[in-house]
Amino acid sequence: MSAKPSSSTLAIALDLIEPGCNRPSLDRAIATAEPGSVTAARAGLHPVALVVLRDGSAFAVDDLCPHDGGLLSDGYLEGDALVCARHGWAFDACTGRCPAHPRFRLQLLPIS
Ligand code: FES
Repeated sequence: MSAKPSSSTLAIALDLIEPGCNRPSLDRAIATAEPGSVTAARAGLHPVALVVLRDGSAFAVDDLCPHDGGLLSDGYLEGDALVCARHGWAFDACTGRCPAHPRFRLQLLPIS
């Protein structure tokens, strides 16, 4: 009997970057990103958005808005909120929470 893949395994498998995608590696994006920026990158083959706050602190997040699948790397910073460009939902950059829609939250991967 084979193990049934979990939903998180399937989500990761379905989100793999297309061959030929020109996203930089996360390390390369970190080396060039400016404070106050949101950049498309990849962690291995997984698409992420690299967010560098104005104070220089940074985090990566799955490049997929939990609302309706917009690319968070197309978004922008408004204060310490990451705003999805597709419908304008704002996510707190410290907690990942969406104050206007509390059921939705980003998982932030802090970068030191
Ligand atoms: S897809 Fe991001 S706010 Fe709707």
